[in-house]
Amino acid sequence: MEPELVVLGTGFHTPSRDRLEVLANCAFTVDGKGRISGIVPSDDPRQGEIVTGAEARGILHRLPADAWLIPGLVDLHIHAPQWPQLGNALDEPLEVWLQKYTFPLEARFADPDFAREIYDDMVRTLVAQGTTTALYFGSVHREPNLILAEVCLRHGQRALIGKVAMDDAETCPDYYRDADAATALAETRAFIAELRAMQHGLDPLVLPVITPRFIPSCTDALLAGLGEIAREMDCHIQTHASESDWAAGYVLHRLGCSDCTALDRFGLLTERTVLAHANFIDSTDMALMARRGAAVAHCPMSNAYFANAVFPLRRALDAGVEVGLGTDISGGFSPSIFDGLRHALMASRHLGRGTDPSLAPEGRGTGETPLSTVEAFWLATAGGADALSLPVGRLAQGQCFDALVIHANRPGSGLRTFVDQDRPEKVFEKLVLTADRTAISDIWVNGRKLI
Ligand code: GUN
Ligand code: FE
Repeated sequence: MEPELVVLGTGFHTPSRDRLEVLANCAFTVDGKGRISGIVPSDDPRQGEIVTGAEARGILHRLPADAWLIPGLVDLHIHAPQWPQLGNALDEPLEVWLQKYTFPLEARFADPDFAREIYDDMVRTLVAQGTTTALYFGSVHREPNLILAEVCLRHGQRALIGKVAMDDAETCPDYYRDADAATALAETRAFIAELRAMQHGLDPLVLPVITPRFIPSCTDALLAGLGEIAREMDCHIQTHASESDWAAGYVLHRLGCSDCTALDRFGLLTERTVLAHANFIDSTDMALMARRGAAVAHCPMSNAYFANAVFPLRRALDAGVEVGLGTDISGGFSPSIFDGLRHALMASRHLGRGTDPSLAPEGRGTGETPLSTVEAFWLATAGGADALSLPVGRLAQGQCFDALVIHANRPGSGLRTFVDQDRPEKVFEKLVLTADRTAISDIWVNGRKLI
């Protein structure tokens, strides 16, 4: 099959957690389904032919010498209806923040015009920041979440979207919750069916997600019912788990066990489950998650505000738990997964090396090995993709072509390169630590050029 697009240049990706692969001067061919059909190196005699053919057909995209192709970024945890609050309201603990700022804001998305305007602005901004896949918490009402799906389809962003389910009258305000468990379950089913009906074909760009907000806002009847729907309708699942002392303590007090154990009992811990935060998971929880194939959305920025603890990333990875990164907008204040991965690097260093200068260096931190730049990049790309079981996050044959071009030395960008520093591994390190919005020159999702 003739390619629809050929990108010629050097690519970086991390096929496994601690391995950077440099694909030097390759022709990346993309087929009509938006998949990578071949990666042809310069010493392969077919490359010349492919490039000449693509040039003649006007489908060649040639990278400048100081530009690199990378997989698109995956945001594993973001609250779409908190977008207007980005950069505000971080002066209260989680349980106060929800009631004082967040529920009133999310309730406003019952207005479809408001939802359309805000979601359009948000999706365009996130795409421009390099987020090619996003796992969204929507709001409680069904229609605005379908509007979000429409917006993602229009702008071409790969998305997984959940209608938030929350029915517990003890913890959720009357003005913003599902009337009862039965209503929440019926609305969830209807949302899944309607979102699926919006797209035809085998490879939908937007997928529905079962989304209990977190155990404290859901009754047992709702959680059990959502577990049944997950099995029946074969869906992704997302929720918040063990985020803060208060949240983890609430679950322990109500159900007598950890979030992970409770979710597992309700049938909500599966291979396609993503747990946001999971800061207070212990080794038993980690082992259970690894057995089920459930993943963590690590949200280092919002953890600094709400968790009062650092997610034990190294221990979770070593225990075989899948992990990717989330912005947790608006608990986190940046829309950029590049920012997220840098916060993950810093948080991991603080946890390992410690923080309190009055303590002796040996006793200051946990002593665990901090995250490397290769691992941080992996979390932001392949790690997130694996958490979602989606064929993105790597530059490899058969993967969807969700990719960015990072172009160094653009005016105003912090990503600069100099002739004596041009070893690819050095450039990669700079890219991970300094690439910003200005450095992102091109964006594709499923082979479609978005920017
Ligand atoms: N726990 C329940 N809801 C939320 C939310 O909106 N943000 C965060 N960070 N934690 C939550
Ligand atoms: Fe969250």
